[in-house]
This record gives sequence, structure tokens and C-alpha cells, in this order.
Amino acid sequence: MSISEKVSNESGKKTRIVVIGTGAVGSTTAYTLLLRERMSELVLIDYNQAKAKGDALDMNHGLPFTGKVDVWAGDYSDCAGADIIIISAGVAQKQGETRLDLLKRNVDIFNHIVEEVMKYNDTGILLVATNPVDIMSYFTWKKSGWPSNRIIGSGTLLDSARFRYLIGEKLDVDPRSIHASIIGEHGDSEVPLWSLANFAGLPLELNEDDKKEIFENTRDAAYQIIEAKGSTYYAIALALDRICTAILRDEGAVLNVSTLISSYHNMSDIYLGVPCIVDRTGVREIITLPLTEEEEKQLQKSGNKIREMIESISE
Ligand code: LAC
Repeated sequence: MSISEKVSNESGKKTRIVVIGTGAVGSTTAYTLLLRERMSELVLIDYNQAKAKGDALDMNHGLPFTGKVDVWAGDYSDCAGADIIIISAGVAQKQGETRLDLLKRNVDIFNHIVEEVMKYNDTGILLVATNPVDIMSYFTWKKSGWPSNRIIGSGTLLDSARFRYLIGEKLDVDPRSIHASIIGEHGDSEVPLWSLANFAGLPLELNEDDKKEIFENTRDAAYQIIEAKGSTYYAIALALDRICTAILRDEGAVLNVSTLISSYHNMSDIYLGVPCIVDRTGVREIITLPLTEEEEKQLQKSGNKIREMIESISE
């Protein structure tokens, strides 16, 4: 029975996000995007199709409580026309492992994933979450042949959020009012930019012990969480949602994501977490910050570590 006369066969421009890898990070990110109604179509792809199907079913049953989003478990052909393709597939850090320990296994997985995506999409933005994210983003850029602005890694956006939260806790201030960055590797060599950190434009009144405690808890947060509950997924999901929003709303937001740098403090041809202007085109611009001598030294060390890992996969 037709309840209304069909007026038009036109369909509005649908916004599609694809999540490849519906493990803890991928499924939590998908759910976050759904709750916040970021897109009109959400596609879940996983080698474990039953899992992807189960997640899609479970999310669809919540739609009466959210907005209208078409959610389905799909295959790589559903990447066609996608605005953003999030890759969160791969093996995750286990207790006692560093992010770099995952490298070889995840490169093998990405070889297949990137090949499949390239068959169906050449206009979207690839957002990489899999660790070690800087090297995985570089590998994705190299393998895809896409312009680097459309291959973004989650980078040190999550680290910077942790940094801001911990400073806010120490100063009893809303972390959204703390402006502080972690740059470099999303990992053990990341760099806290204390010289530029501020609250209401004022330098932070923290002693050296506080700074040491805050940075160590920032850098080691993932290890602490993995030891407690096995893996991290809530904050990284919110960070990925933040990047998707900046893209879909063409915000021009400054976010510390992982991007391909060229002559950034004399470093080039690696992916590194640095402040970038993110909009509909992906990374529109990279912001070069004034660093102290010590920060510069730490950044060089971080960049060299990433370069060594990149060279290890290029062998
Ligand atoms: C973490 C993972 C996303 O830092 O690397 O929680």
C-alpha cells in the first residue's frame, strides 16, 4: 500500500564513512560516529564478517534512539563514493608490546586492504588508526599513490588530548581550556611542547616534578590502560570522530594528526604528528611551530625513529 505519492526519484547527497576493522577501536569509533550522526551511511567491513554483521544489527536496533543513519556490514565495493575510509584493522598492542612491535604483521594486513580500497575509491580521505600509526600512514600513502593530504593518521591527537586532560586535572581547569600539544611519534618518543602550552594565553604554572609526572602519564597512558583492561578504544574513537568532523564540516581545524612532512625542522619524507589545518580536502596546511632547542632535539630523535621503521619496511 503506498502511503504517499512518490514525488521524486532524486536522492540527496549521502555522506558515507567506511570503517575497515571492527575490533574494539573500529566498532567503538563506528558507534561514536553513529551517536553523533556524523554521516548518512556507515559501512562496517571486517574479515570476520559475522562480527561486522552483528555490530551493524546491534547499531541498527538503536536507531529509534538516534538519528537516521543507514548502517550495514559491507565489502570493499562499498568504499565506492565514500567520503572517509577509516582503517582500524590489524593486530593491537598486547601487554608488554610497544606499538612498533606490531609493524610487520600490520603491513602485511594493509597490503591487502589498501589494494582493495584502491579498486573502488580514488576521491575519498583515508584515515589511519592502526599502530604504529605514523608508519602505517606512510605505508598507506606510498601504496595508494594518493596525494598525501588525503592520507591522514590519527597521529598525536589522542596524546595531546591526554596531555590537556592531565594538565587540566592538575590545574583544576576544563581540559578544553588548556592549549597544549604533543608532537612527533604516536609512541614512546613523542614530544611535549611545554614552551607553547598555555591556559587563557598564560604560561602554565607547573613545577618540574608536575611536568615530569604529567608527561610520563601522557606517554605511558596506553600501557596503563592495556594493563588494566586489555586495550584502549574510547578516547581514540573520540579523536577519530573529531578528525571526521573537521573533514565533513570543512572546518579548517588545527589538529595534531600524522601527515607527510617535507622540510619540517629539517626533516622530510616521513609521517609525523604535527599541527595541521584539517578540512574537506584532508590536511590543507601544516603548521611549523617555534620550538626550544630541547624540543627540537627531541623531535629530531622522534623523527629519526620513525624514519628507521619506515626504512625497515622498505627493505
Ligand atoms: C593509544 C592507542 C590508540 O594510544 O595507540 O591508546
